[in-house]
Amino acid sequence: MYICICNAIKEADLREVARCCAGNAEDLYRKLGREPMCYQCIDEAERVVEDARAAANVPATLPH
Ligand code: FES
Repeated sequence: MYICICNAIKEADLREVARCCAGNAEDLYRKLGREPMCYQCIDEAERVVEDARAAANVPATLPH
């Protein structure tokens, strides 16, 4: 399932990067080489990031 239509970012890809990289959804989009465009996905993307980290027991604040 796509979490961001503008950038064709799949939820699975966002979850994977959330588990290994610091930052909010916008930061993680950039890690994936993308930039938020319309921002309609950001709230849901933040929920996915939080959920992925909670499921993996990753602290909310990772070192950069
Ligand atoms: S749907 Fe993600 S920036 Fe537009």
